Amino acid sequence: MNIILLGPPGAGKGTQASRLESERGMVQLSTGDMLRAAVKAGTPVGLQAKAVMEAGELVSDAIVSGIIGERLDELGADKGAIFDGYPRTAAQAQSLDEILAERGRKLDHVIELVVDEDALVTRITGRFSCGNCGANYHDSFNQPKVEGVCDVCGGTEFKRRPDDNEATVRTRMAEYRAKTAPILPIYEARGLVQRVDGMADIAVVTDAIEAILDGRG
Ligand code: AP5
Ligand code: MG
Ligand code: ZN
Repeated sequence: MNIILLGPPGAGKGTQASRLESERGMVQLSTGDMLRAAVKAGTPVGLQAKAVMEAGELVSDAIVSGIIGERLDELGADKGAIFDGYPRTAAQAQSLDEILAERGRKLDHVIELVVDEDALVTRITGRFSCGNCGANYHDSFNQPKVEGVCDVCGGTEFKRRPDDNEATVRTRMAEYRAKTAPILPIYEARGLVQRVDGMADIAVVTDAIEAILDGRG
């Protein structure tokens, strides 16, 4: 099964993708995480992407579609993919169709996380993650069970993203509205889109997504 999680910055795509990964053995493919890893490693892609990401704008379609294709090639044919933060433009949606077809895969669901944009700024500016394993947390909504200790790996170093400030978040949202939201009708025409209330509790959102994947939604 291959699915897309679609929604504006802070909608919960990464949070839900990692929960589905551990509960269903699917694999999260987050272009944002891949680009951040490239920036950290100082690769040619990372050098090109750094300033664009810090400004909250979109990295080029060719770069992100290239890395998604490479990542799918590394994935066992039996492993389902959760696309998190990709595709983000009509050109990327077109590339994804080709990338999947070339590998004998098809798209099963496009799940739109429907959220209240005003709440997203709070979500994003409160977000932090484990510096060791990447597990996601939030100052108000999703604290580690023991303060200062990662639930998943026991790590004690945490980090925040450089693009998680209010000004950049506003640009990221404008990019979403202008370039990403317009791809929904493409998938709607194919009967693939299902909506989930992304303002519900994290576990309730996961249940709603799993109901869709199990054909109960
Ligand atoms: P990317 O990393 O994809 O960022 P984004 O789309 O802006 O989305 P976020 O990761 O901020 O939000 P999320 O939906 O994953 O929310 P999360 O689960 O963390 O992209 C970053 C940049 O990379 C882009 O700006 C662009 O430059 C570049 N890029 C990436 N992909 C690209 C592409 N395809 N094309 C071109 N450029 C690309 O949740 C947020 C917080 O809220 C967390 O703290 C979480 O704990 C909390 N939370 C989650 N769900 C809930 C809930 N239900 N209730 C309460 N709190 C919740
Ligand atoms: Mg994310
Ligand atoms: Zn950790």
